Amino acid sequence: MKDKILVTGGTGYIGSHTVVELQNSGYEVVIVDNLSNSRADVVDNIAKVSGIRPAFEALDCLDYEGLDALFTKYKGIKGIIHFAASKAVGESVQKPLLYYRNNLVSLINLLELMPKHGVEGIIFSSSCTVYGQPDILPVTEEAPIKVAESPYGNTKQINEEIIRDYIKSGAPINAILLRYFNPIGAHPTALLGELPNGVPQNLIPFLTQTAIGIREKLSVFGDDYNTPDGSCIRDYINVVDLAKAHVVAMDRIMKQKQEEKVEVFNIGTGRGLSVLELIHAFEESTGVKLNYQIVGRRAGDIEQVWANPDRANNVLGWKAESTIEDTLRSAWAWQKKLREDGIQ
Ligand code: UD1
Repeated sequence: MKDKILVTGGTGYIGSHTVVELQNSGYEVVIVDNLSNSRADVVDNIAKVSGIRPAFEALDCLDYEGLDALFTKYKGIKGIIHFAASKAVGESVQKPLLYYRNNLVSLINLLELMPKHGVEGIIFSSSCTVYGQPDILPVTEEAPIKVAESPYGNTKQINEEIIRDYIKSGAPINAILLRYFNPIGAHPTALLGELPNGVPQNLIPFLTQTAIGIREKLSVFGDDYNTPDGSCIRDYINVVDLAKAHVVAMDRIMKQKQEEKVEVFNIGTGRGLSVLELIHAFEESTGVKLNYQIVGRRAGDIEQVWANPDRANNVLGWKAESTIEDTLRSAWAWQKKLREDGIQ
């Protein structure tokens, strides 16, 4: 058995897939989640997929005393993967203080408790949103950080800085910041996936809900961008591939292989796909026709962004492996499973 890892937000979309991959590679996992955007029965499905039931505590990372007690209860936690955060861009514009409190204070609580409990390293879920619209594509980790478009995006930038400043001050911890591009898809067993609350804001959940008839029509936000087909371009990364990036990053921290105390990696495929290309790939790989229409641009959207993942490929030894077709089929299988289970 490898080390004990605390996964905050471990019942969420990316968190649940990461718990499975950590367990598959021998780590012991403790999940903390306040269930604000996930369900407790995700723990059952993690156990079904990996064959191991992770420890689970329903707790909010804003609760400093609760976290302190948790580290005491599960003595010997060596690493943290911090997913727990509010993540709806639009909502963050409406409720900025909620976002700043949730996302900043949760991280500060964890960082403060790490030295006290001998926790050596933390992996932080950051986002390509920190690059805004990059001047050079594909974007590398050296690209300048642009002024954030939303309070949500700003919390990612500030949290990166908080970690850097804390380590600069001499805190005895190490960190890896993973900047995710657009995570999509679901576990191949269809037991884990994304469970959007209410009307989905992200493309794939809206697309699969349209395909199954929950939504009438998918709106494509703009076809007048300066891209080959006029729709926006993103780097869509399979969620299981993304989960595996966390395992290799945790191995790197635990084996003390880091060259610097804070390292940052882009986690993407290196391939940009337009919204229209993605729709057509979905139709081709699943055989399902999609009802969609072109509408106006969505405020705040970036025209095009995709990763240069060389550093993750070469330094972490991680590479995105899934094809877009398999990934889209997994998203569709998950949507059908939700219907079967009467969830959505
Ligand atoms: C957004 C956030 C990103 C965050 C990610 C979480 C910004 C600018 N982006 O990414 O920080 O990490 O969500 O998943 O804050 N689209 C449609 N129709 C729809 C929905 C989306 O055409 O109904 C298009 C969008 O215009 C965009 C693409 O699909 O071009 C992807 O959109 P989405 O899934 O919402 O992700 P991002 O906006 O890229």
